[in-house]
Amino acid sequence: MYQISSFFGLFNCYYFLLLQVAGLCKLLNQNSRTLTSLEFVHCKISSSFMDTICGSLCSSGAETHQIHHFSISSSSFHEIDPVSLAHSLASFLSSGRSLRSLKLCDNNLDRNFAKSVFSTLLDSSCSLTSFDLSENNISGWLSIFNWKSNAFLSSSGVTKSLQSLRILKLGGNNLQKDDAGNLRYVLVQMPSLEILDLSDNPIEDDGIRSLIPYFAEASKSCSPLTDLNLGSCELSSDGVILLLDVLSTLARPLNSLSLADNGLGSQVAEALGKFWGTSIQVLNLEGIGLGPSGFRKLRDIRMENLKLVKLNISKNRGGIETAKFLSKLILHAPKLVAVNAAYNLMPAESLPLICSALKTAKGHVQQVDLRGNICEYQPSHDTMLAEFQHNGKPILILPSSVALNIPYDDDP
Ligand SMILES: *[C@@H]1O[C@H](CO)[C@@H](O)[C@H](O)[C@H]1NC(C)=O
Ligand SMILES: *[C@@H]1O[C@H](CO)[C@@H](O)[C@H](O)[C@H]1NC(C)=O
Repeated sequence: MYQISSFFGLFNCYYFLLLQVAGLCKLLNQNSRTLTSLEFVHCKISSSFMDTICGSLCSSGAETHQIHHFSISSSSFHEIDPVSLAHSLASFLSSGRSLRSLKLCDNNLDRNFAKSVFSTLLDSSCSLTSFDLSENNISGWLSIFNWKSNAFLSSSGVTKSLQSLRILKLGGNNLQKDDAGNLRYVLVQMPSLEILDLSDNPIEDDGIRSLIPYFAEASKSCSPLTDLNLGSCELSSDGVILLLDVLSTLARPLNSLSLADNGLGSQVAEALGKFWGTSIQVLNLEGIGLGPSGFRKLRDIRMENLKLVKLNISKNRGGIETAKFLSKLILHAPKLVAVNAAYNLMPAESLPLICSALKTAKGHVQQVDLRGNICEYQPSHDTMLAEFQHNGKPILILPSSVALNIPYDDDP
């Protein structure tokens, strides 16, 4: 089953039989002038398939196709000769001057494939704005890029395709510290980059250290970077303290940062306290091992008119200190909308502290998630739920007796 409209083609190949390829090509060909988005999900892609698709889009005399968004996800690339497959994809990419967004996500691509796609992009004349290679296995794909390489000089001498890139997603690729080192040289070629996702890659502190010169440069050059995801990167407080120091100096501060699921411990609290004086709005500190002492340190740091809008401090085992911190934060972050403080071993005494801060602040808080804490149901909860509401919905999300019985593994 597939659907096609003038602008958009989405093909879910669970339903897609080989016999239908001919039909698909006819459809693509008929719509090649107006079709701008093409997506393949759960497909088996071979080089002849790619060649056929490209052929039907580029026919009627034109040498280029009009596709803006091209995506292949949760698919497998089947080919005896992977070089020829990469070549077919490359030829599709290089014949697309309108291409803006390329997504090759969760296809089990290896480093050679990624390398080949990337060098095609370097050579092509498209102005890509979004490149998503998440959930593959491409460690080593940038190995030719280092301080002495001139690999950026494409045949025409410029790297136009990277100049316009705003979104780069490389999460879940088993990238290591050397990859981060190579990436640094590639990132400087992306002056428009706004969103960088490196989550779920074991780059460790050494990886962060090699990226620091890039952030330092970004801080001088007024880079538009707004959104950085470093969740689950096996970082420790050593690397993150260095990182936060340099991020605190950005001329245009970050909008959103995730450090979730890195074992940072309470040592990171001071650097965090300094950092959130910048105008960071969305901060994800889930599962970073703050513990009671981390929250105590955070509470002792000066808070003044913070710009925070969303904060995730879930799974930090902070106990009552989480509630004390939170009640101070609510008073000093007038734009705060949502806090996730789930799974922090908070005792029942936490609730009155948080409620009294909510009452005093009269802010914009719409949601405080307290699931997975140790406050058993009491009739007073109903009063709190009724008292603190936003648009008719309770602000507090309290542990229900059901949730309490579900064991939750919050070990980092
Ligand atoms: C990832 O790629 C490496 C080689 O680069 C290989 O040794 C490893 O088995 C691959 N891992 C998975 C999960 O496919
Ligand atoms: C915050 O915490 C919850 C887990 O309690 C998680 O599901 C969520 O994805 C986290 N991250 C963000 C950015 O909300």
